[in-house]
Amino acid sequence: MKIGISNLKGGVGKTTVAQNLAVCLAHVGYKVCIVDTDRNQNTISWIAEREETLPKILAVGLTDSKALSSAVDQLDRDNDFVILDGTPSLSEMTTRIILASDLLIVPVLPSGHDIRSMQLFFERFEQAKEFRQDIPIYFFINQFSDSIKLHQSIRELLNDFGVGVMETRFNRRVAYAETSVNGKGVLEHTDEKAAAEVTNFTKEVLEIARKLGFVQN
Ligand SMILES: Nc1ncnc2c1ncn2[C@@H]1O[C@H](COP(=O)(O)OP(=O)(O)O)[C@@H](O)[C@H]1O
Ligand SMILES: [Mg+2]
Repeated sequence: MKIGISNLKGGVGKTTVAQNLAVCLAHVGYKVCIVDTDRNQNTISWIAEREETLPKILAVGLTDSKALSSAVDQLDRDNDFVILDGTPSLSEMTTRIILASDLLIVPVLPSGHDIRSMQLFFERFEQAKEFRQDIPIYFFINQFSDSIKLHQSIRELLNDFGVGVMETRFNRRVAYAETSVNGKGVLEHTDEKAAAEVTNFTKEVLEIARKLGFVQN
């Protein structure tokens, strides 16, 4: 199954979501590959730090949009999950990621300003839908904080886009930033609350995958 993590904004958590989902799926025993499509190649740097004793994850850097579709299909044959770590650049790559994905997850920060700027992404999404109508897509709220009042109303703002919003979310936690450079997921960090968040998120992704017919039992 191919899972695209996309949003045309930088810093919303695409890489964080891709890496933590990959780590959790690898711990369950799935064969997982991340395709890093961002020119910064953050996931490629991250994987280079990953300890050999941890569950194995394959990471492939791929910034040529024309090569994406066939490369991802090949990786999909060899792996249970291929996770596409998206690029923020308004390029052909984003359209190709949207079209290549069996499921799209769009991380968003809980700020009204950020959510209103989703227009550009949805223009791309609508264009892509001319080629493939049924593209499952969900928002995922990242860097949530209970103490910020505005965050409570974020679901209502997101509902206006007419796409699903995942039930689970990641709070703002140091563990996410710390693991972004040491090759780990927060599941492999001492922060148990963060570990619970990524575990619940992964369960929700697997539940969606089951409904879509990509995962049995
Ligand atoms: N829930 C979170 N709590 C704390 N820091 C986070 C969280 N999510 C992401 N970050 C940090 O924010 C920065 C941007 O996240 P990143 O996943 O690289 O975004 P993107 O890939 O969309 O550009 C990174 O330094 C990352 O470690
Ligand atoms: Mg990134």
